[in-house]
Formats: sequence, structure tokens, C-alpha cells
Amino acid sequence: MALRFSLTGTREGVKERPRRVPVWREINAREGHAGIPQPLSSPTSWRQIHLLDPRTTTKTAELLELERKYCSFGDTVHYLEPPKVFVNCEGSYLYDEDGTPYLDLQMWYSAASFGYKNPRLNAALKRQIDLLPQLACQYLHAEKVEVAARIAQYCEKRFGVKGRVQFNVGGSQAIEDSLKIVRNATGKNLMFAFMGGYHGRTLGASAITSSFRYRRRYGHFGDRAQFIFYPYCFRCIYGLTRPACDIYCEGQFEKLFESEYHSVWDAKAGASEYGAFYIEPVQGTGGYVIPPREYFTRLKSTCDRHKILIVDDEIQMGFYRTGKFWAVEHLGITPDI
Ligand SMILES: Cc1ncc(COP(=O)(O)O)c(C=O)c1O
Repeated sequence: MALRFSLTGTREGVKERPRRVPVWREINAREGHAGIPQPLSSPTSWRQIHLLDPRTTTKTAELLELERKYCSFGDTVHYLEPPKVFVNCEGSYLYDEDGTPYLDLQMWYSAASFGYKNPRLNAALKRQIDLLPQLACQYLHAEKVEVAARIAQYCEKRFGVKGRVQFNVGGSQAIEDSLKIVRNATGKNLMFAFMGGYHGRTLGASAITSSFRYRRRYGHFGDRAQFIFYPYCFRCIYGLTRPACDIYCEGQFEKLFESEYHSVWDAKAGASEYGAFYIEPVQGTGGYVIPPREYFTRLKSTCDRHKILIVDDEIQMGFYRTGKFWAVEHLGITPDI
């Protein structure tokens, strides 16, 4: 898909609205090429659509042109065509170059749950950068140890188990670490995960993220998770309603272990082919779905009986996003990782 900017073009039959710079969007109509940036000298068979967006300023148009040429074509960036450009932020708002405020209902997928430009967080960050920024990992600094201790002590108090903290720089990387921990602890490389679950875009995280869209271009994923229906009561996959359903969906998961012919359990060896079940206590990217608590208490007990670890992905819902430090605290279970 290519973007071209023209000062003169209009689409036939379309009444022009006031605008600063008209934007022409060319859509590559050839099957299989959607989403791939194409050179400006595109074949004339491509459809041209005139986007009359009065908010598209010269600066924004220039940025979009540069983005088209030089930025990797992450599909997330192009959920909107053309992508929206912001220049500033404050609290719960993002601002475009006209100063128009946009209320961010998602807060950067929960990465900014404490608000943009939070003065306390910004001051702490500045203090640390001025004092001693991140160090090579063979050295220690006080803040790393102190934060690890506070998180581990909180978990011990809340869940009654001792543990350690491994830091990493992003969600997908944390998921990669957890996959290694599961493999190290269980010797298994296959996982259960939820349909609608999102765990990131690295290769390992893509294998346990349900959307095929994220894997489609990259060949075979030998570690692709076995995906299980998320307990999404509002749109129950079985067409049932609570409480009459008696959490039927968890019962279906449990049935997988009733016979070796259901493909996940060797009853003679008492062993599952799967090392862990990856959960989101509130499904984020999959639609902000709040599950029934009983589902997870039962799931935990099913997993415990079959020696399957629970990995709690709090990348989006942790750190008070749901009111508690960890979202899993609402569910009354203790995850393993
Ligand atoms: C639940 C969950 N896990 C993992 C990730 C991946 O995090 P990152 O984008 O920092 O790699 C995300 C990102 O939105 C997420 O929502």
C-alpha cells in the first residue's frame, strides 16, 4: 500500500471539503499485496482513493510520506489509514499538532496507566538517569535489587510463596524469559494458551498468541500453542449463560485429560505433553474481557492435577491497571510464574 501526496488531485464526483493538503491513497488491488509498501511509480491499474482529511497538515503529510518510505511496515501502525500523528501528551490525553486533545481510553495498551507526563514518575526517571542509568548485567546497582525485593516480598505476602524477579525490557522479552523458565523447569516446549490471547510479536511469543495473522508470513511454528476458548461470558462460545452453565467451558478443557486419545495426556506415565498454560487474568488485546473468577479456580486445580504450570501474563493488566497490583489477585489463584 502506498501513500502519495498531491496538491491538485480530486476524485471525480466528490465534492471537495476545505483542506490543507489533500491526500491520495493508492491501494494495491492485487490480491496478496495488501499491507506491503509499494514504490511511488506504481502501476496505473492500482485504484486511487482521494482522502479529504481537513486535519492533514503539511507537517503531518511530510511525516506520513517519510514513514511510508523509511519506517518498517508494522501492521499495527496502519490500523488507521493514514495513521494518526500525535505531538504531545498530558494525563489521559494525547494532542495532535493543532492542539486537539484525544482522550486515550487505552493508555498505550496500559503502558501509561499512571498518566502521560506523570510528574512523580518523570522525576524518578530523571533522577536515575542523572545518577546512574542501566548497567551492564554483570554489575549491580541498589535500585534493581530493591525493586526486585519489594516485588518478591509483595508476592510472598499476597500469595504465600517465595520467588525471584527477572527484569527485561519489554513484554515480549518477558514472555520469552518465562518460556525459558517453563522449559527449564519442565523440559517441555509446548504450551496451552487462550484464543484471543496476546503475548507479543517475538517468535516465541507469536507461537502462543492466538491470531494466525501474526504468524502467517513466517512459516511453520513447531511450538504453536494449543489454543483454548477464553471464558468470554458475554459472547459465550457455547451459547450458555451463567450461573446455569456451571462453567461448562472449563469442563471441556478438563475433558482433554480423560483419555490419551484426546491428545494431551499420557495416563500411564501421568504426564502431559504441555508444560504450562499462559493466561491473561483480564484479556487485553483480545477485547478487554473480564472472566468469571470460578473459571480460573477450576483451571488452576485442573492444571495442578496434571502438573501444568500457570504463567500469568500481567504485561497489560498488572501494576494496578485493574485496581490491584496484579490482576490475578481478583481471581483468587496463585500462578507459578
Ligand atoms: C498481555 C500482553 N502480553 C505481552 C505483550 C507484549 O508486550 P510488548 O509489546 O512490550 O512486547 C502485550 C502487549 O500489548 C500484552 O498486552
